Amino acid sequence: MSPSFAPLKNDTFLRACMRQATDYTPIWLMRQAGRYLPEYCATRSQAGSFMGLATNVNFATEVTLQPLARYPLDAAILFSDILTVPDAMGLGLSFAQGEGPRFANPVRDEAAVGQLHVPDMNKLRYVFDAVTSIRKALSGQVPLIGFSGSPWTLACYMVEGAGSDDYRLVKSMLYSRPDLMHRILQTNADSVAAYLNAQIDAGAQAVMIFDSWGGVLADGAFQQFSLAYTSQVLARLTRKGVDDQVVPRIVFTKGGGMWLQEMGQLDCEVLGLDWTMNLGKARALVGQHKALQGNLDPNILFASPDQIEAQVRRVLDSFGPPHQDLHATGPTHIFNLGHGISQYTPPDHVSCLVSAVHSYSRALRRVA
Ligand code: CP3
Repeated sequence: MSPSFAPLKNDTFLRACMRQATDYTPIWLMRQAGRYLPEYCATRSQAGSFMGLATNVNFATEVTLQPLARYPLDAAILFSDILTVPDAMGLGLSFAQGEGPRFANPVRDEAAVGQLHVPDMNKLRYVFDAVTSIRKALSGQVPLIGFSGSPWTLACYMVEGAGSDDYRLVKSMLYSRPDLMHRILQTNADSVAAYLNAQIDAGAQAVMIFDSWGGVLADGAFQQFSLAYTSQVLARLTRKGVDDQVVPRIVFTKGGGMWLQEMGQLDCEVLGLDWTMNLGKARALVGQHKALQGNLDPNILFASPDQIEAQVRRVLDSFGPPHQDLHATGPTHIFNLGHGISQYTPPDHVSCLVSAVHSYSRALRRVA
C-alpha cells in the first residue's frame, strides 16, 4: 500500500519546477544538511559515522529537517548519498573522518564488470524508509526531493574507487575498453531508474539526478557516456507520486553549460546550472522548455552580508523579469548554489542568503 501524507502547505518550489508563476523565487541549497551546521556535527558524532547517520531512519530524518528549522527554505532534500547504490552493488563504501568516500572493491577490469548487477532494492530499504519517515515528519511544510547520482558520476567513483583529480582510471577504461564502460553505465542506468522509482513510491515529490562529473568529459564523450544514460533513466521514471501529483525531474551537470542546448532536449522539467553560466543566456536557450535551478557561487557565502545581498540581486537580475501570468506557463527560476555548500560556511550567512532571495524576488514581482 502506498503511504499517505499531510497536504502540502508551501508548493512554491513544485510550481516553479512546473514553470508556473510564483509569488517569489523559491530557494533550497545543495548539501543544505551538512557539516556547516553544528547540530549536524552533533548528530553525526552520535551516529558514529556518515553511513551510521544515513542508514538510520531516525537520524536521517532528524538531519534532513535541521536546515529547515533554521531557515525558511522552500524544499527539503533526502539526507543520504549518491554512493549508496554502488555500495548496495557490493563495492564496500566507507567514509573515513576527514577524507572523501572510498570503495574497498573498485570495478577496474573485465572480471569485476562481469560481476556487476543491479542491486536488490531491499538492500536500499533504509533509503526508502527514510523518504517515508521524512515525508511524515515534514507534515506538508515543504516538498521532499529524492535524488541519485547519474550513471556516469557513479561510474567515476566505482572505477576510481574514490574521488579523483584527473579521472585517469575511469577515462582510461572509457577510451581503451568502451565496451566495458557501456556495460557499467547500462547497469547503473537500470539501477538508478529502479532506485529513483522506489523513492517516488516511498513519497519523494521531485527527483534530482546529480551528474557532478559530467563536465570533465570531452565534447562527444559527454553525449555518449553521460547524457545518453541520464536520458535513459529519465524515460523510465514514474511520472506521478503517491499524492497523484506530477514528480518534477531535475538534472544537474556540473560544468555542463556548454551542452545546455542539448540538455534542453532531455525529458525533464528542470536543469540545474553551476556558477559559470549566465542565467539570462540559459533562459534564452532553454527557458521555453525548462525551469532553471542555480547558480550562486558557494564561495560568495564567505563574503560579508552586504556582498551576499548584492550577489543575490545579481543572480536574480541575470535571470530576468519573473514570469507572473497565472494562466500560462513561462520561464521560472529556483534559486540554489552552483554546487554544494561548503562545510566552512558561517550559518548566519545562509540566513542572509535565504532572506535576500525571498525579499528581493518579491520586490521584483511588485515592480514588474
Ligand atoms: O544535499 C543534501 O543535503 C542531501 C544529502 C547529500 C549528501 N551527498 C550528503 C553528504 C547529497 C545530495 C549528496 C550527493 C553527493 N554525494 C554527490 C553529488 C553532489 C555533489 O556534491 O556533486 C557526490 C559527488 C557525493 C559523493 C560524496 N559524498 C563525497 C565526494 C563526499 C565527501 C566530500 C565531503 O563533503 O566530505 C560525501 C560525503 C557526504 N555526503 C557528506 C554529506 C553531508 C559529508 C560527510 C560527513 O558528514 O562526514
